[in-house]
Amino acid sequence: MSFTNVKIAVIGGSGLYSLDNLTVLGEVNPETPWGFPSDPIVVAETATGDRVAFLARHGRGHHLNPSEVPVRANIAALKSIGVEAIIAFSAVGSLREEIAPRHFVLPTQIVDRTKGVRPFTFFEGGLVGHVPFADPFDAELADLIAKHAAIACPDLPLHREKTLVCMEGPAFSTRAESHLYRSWGCDIINMSVLPESKLAREAEIAYQMVCMSTDYDCWKNHDEAVTVEAVLGHVGANSANAKKMLLAIIPALATALSKNELKSVIALKGSNKWSVMT
Ligand code: ADE
Repeated sequence: MSFTNVKIAVIGGSGLYSLDNLTVLGEVNPETPWGFPSDPIVVAETATGDRVAFLARHGRGHHLNPSEVPVRANIAALKSIGVEAIIAFSAVGSLREEIAPRHFVLPTQIVDRTKGVRPFTFFEGGLVGHVPFADPFDAELADLIAKHAAIACPDLPLHREKTLVCMEGPAFSTRAESHLYRSWGCDIINMSVLPESKLAREAEIAYQMVCMSTDYDCWKNHDEAVTVEAVLGHVGANSANAKKMLLAIIPALATALSKNELKSVIALKGSNKWSVMT
């Protein structure tokens, strides 16, 4: 089976391995110059006839750790079926009291604490390019997500204007690191936003991460430090909220894309010709 013009993609993180209440049209598993994606991409349709591609970042059985995710293949595979906007979900630890487990966050900034072991760019092997990344997420996409998430999940706290620090993992942070990130102004922590967001920018795809808080990491000395058990205790509720909000977000995003209402998506198209130095 092959698909083209599937403009919206959802990348699912820990606990979000599929979408509900959609009609599955088929699966694709394209081999890209960077190999195969994490998992076959499921293409599905909403009741309103809007198509969406779903990709499980860690594979459906969660067999890829964050450093092993074939991110270039994932982004290239989504690009190959026509994706113009990615909504990427991720479990995160909270570095702030007010962001409790099961709260959602739309971050605006990223601090990179990965270790340089992940392939970070499509621009290599004689092709040099430097894309703008001052604002790593798409503000218009974030606004659309926030508006429709509030309608679908009115009681769900959704924080905005937050900074996400991305660590390498797979072990969680030490207490000293957790305090350091707080002192740097970071609000939430995960292992997945990089290089995914950067590669999406290089591929001229609008990208917004939706973070789902599962724990307070380990900065609260009086509290237990984060464990997988603690994280898993919240992913079920988080994933139910993610699925619910997507049923409202996907049709709204499809309409906005078809009417060319997202100026940032239009601006991205062809923009990287100005980034290439070669
Ligand atoms: N994902 C969920 N919780 C996390 C934490 N505390 N640190 C890094 N990644 C996470």
